[in-house]
Amino acid sequence: MHRILIVNGPNLNLLRQREPETYGSRSLDEINERLTAHAGQLGLDVSFFQSNSEGEIIDYLHREGFEADGLIINPGAFTHYSYAIRDAIVAVNLCAVEVHLSNIYSREEFRHKSVIAPVCRGHIVGFGAEGYIMALSFFNKPKGDI
Ligand code: DQA
Repeated sequence: MHRILIVNGPNLNLLRQREPETYGSRSLDEINERLTAHAGQLGLDVSFFQSNSEGEIIDYLHREGFEADGLIINPGAFTHYSYAIRDAIVAVNLCAVEVHLSNIYSREEFRHKSVIAPVCRGHIVGFGAEGYIMALSFFNKPKGDI
């Protein structure tokens, strides 16, 4: 069974309260419940982690990354400047899909650049919580094809 890490960065613990017009009305727990159900249908094992701290995200990737088959990550604002998270994804050699709830390209200029995307297989932006489901579906394939 594939083990997929689902990591959310800063301020995403506040989903539902935080700018719902931009990020939707579901809480992170609700999103994760939906992902757990979907993973069950696909036969994937999912582990969730959220932190507001860059170092904690890096430590989690170091701890769990070598044993995992894939990573779904919404790095929040770290997307736009964290070379350290980018390096950690490369260091643990994980196939990663970056997800953003909002369409970062239709927002402020500083959000248009992701320093994480170049080390990911791809990224999904602008589909709200559905983006995580899409990312999970990507991993529904034999290990050799990931
Ligand atoms: C976000 C987009 C980022 O620019 C922002 O800092 C976030 C959320 C998104 O999911 O749309 O915290 O990653």
